[in-house]
Amino acid sequence: MKLCSPLLLCLVVALSSAYVITHHHHHHHDSMWTKLILTHHWPNTFCSMEHCKPNISYWTLHGLWPDKGMDCNSSWHFNSSQIEDLLPDMKRSWPDLLKPTSTEFWKYEWHKHGTCAAKADSLNSQHKYFSKALELYHKVDLDRVLRKFNITPSESYYKLSQIEDAIEKSYSIKPKIQCAFGSRRDEVQILGQIELCFDTEFTLLDCERPFPDDTTSKGYGNDVMDVDRSGFSVCQHDMPVYYPPLAKES
Ligand SMILES: *[C@@H]1O[C@H](CO)[C@@H](O)[C@H](O)[C@H]1NC(C)=O
Ligand SMILES: *[C@@H]1O[C@H](CO)[C@@H](O)[C@H](O)[C@H]1NC(C)=O
Ligand SMILES: *[C@@H]1O[C@H](CO)[C@@H](O)[C@H](O)[C@H]1NC(C)=O
Repeated sequence: MKLCSPLLLCLVVALSSAYVITHHHHHHHDSMWTKLILTHHWPNTFCSMEHCKPNISYWTLHGLWPDKGMDCNSSWHFNSSQIEDLLPDMKRSWPDLLKPTSTEFWKYEWHKHGTCAAKADSLNSQHKYFSKALELYHKVDLDRVLRKFNITPSESYYKLSQIEDAIEKSYSIKPKIQCAFGSRRDEVQILGQIELCFDTEFTLLDCERPFPDDTTSKGYGNDVMDVDRSGFSVCQHDMPVYYPPLAKES
């Protein structure tokens, strides 16, 4: 039997290219994200830039950001009653450091990033989005990982590579680590934000791993565009890193 006639082969090739073309078109039309960035910040450093009073000594959530899109659906309003059951964990893990009793930070993150993340069925409700962010936040445990490698908030300085190694050895992926730069700009940098990246199946992957679509997307600049809430830049290898402890109550 000759199943593979040239005609059949042509048909298969034609059909699969048609699929590729429509699929590709659909993909761009939706501008579906391919990567999620789970961003943690160190409250003490954040507060030194934003003039809040830090009273938290663990890494807290800043956000869960898809690599494409911002403010994807302005008519999808944040409604905290839809995440009522998550609120105790939200307050602990994703606190608004500027206004501890308000829901403004979550509302802001939902509108800017959540409505875009919601293009995936797995995140297409406020409850799914916020509970997934909390789940991923608890799955990785930066405080424990850093402590395990003797990196603790203290007056001693660390090398950036020590912090990178701790995370790479624990999770086998490369994080993106951001610092604040004080007035002593060329002497020390202050550990501020750590990003870990996930694929659409919520599996950890290198943050810097290039995706084919990255060239057509401005999305990866999310952290840069979040400059209103954080003025961090990527930490430098040739400078010591300060991991600031909370000031003792006087
Ligand atoms: C930090 O302070 C805020 C109000 O100033 C309070 O709501 C919050 O519970 C405190 N957090 C911790 C961990 O003590
Ligand atoms: C935007 O959100 C509203 C409210 O949830 C929903 O009815 C509408 O279908 C959404 N629009 C798009 C384009 O997803
Ligand atoms: C918020 O969500 C609750 C629970 O689903 C619902 O009963 C309420 O109508 C919503 N509020 C608004 C303003 O949409």
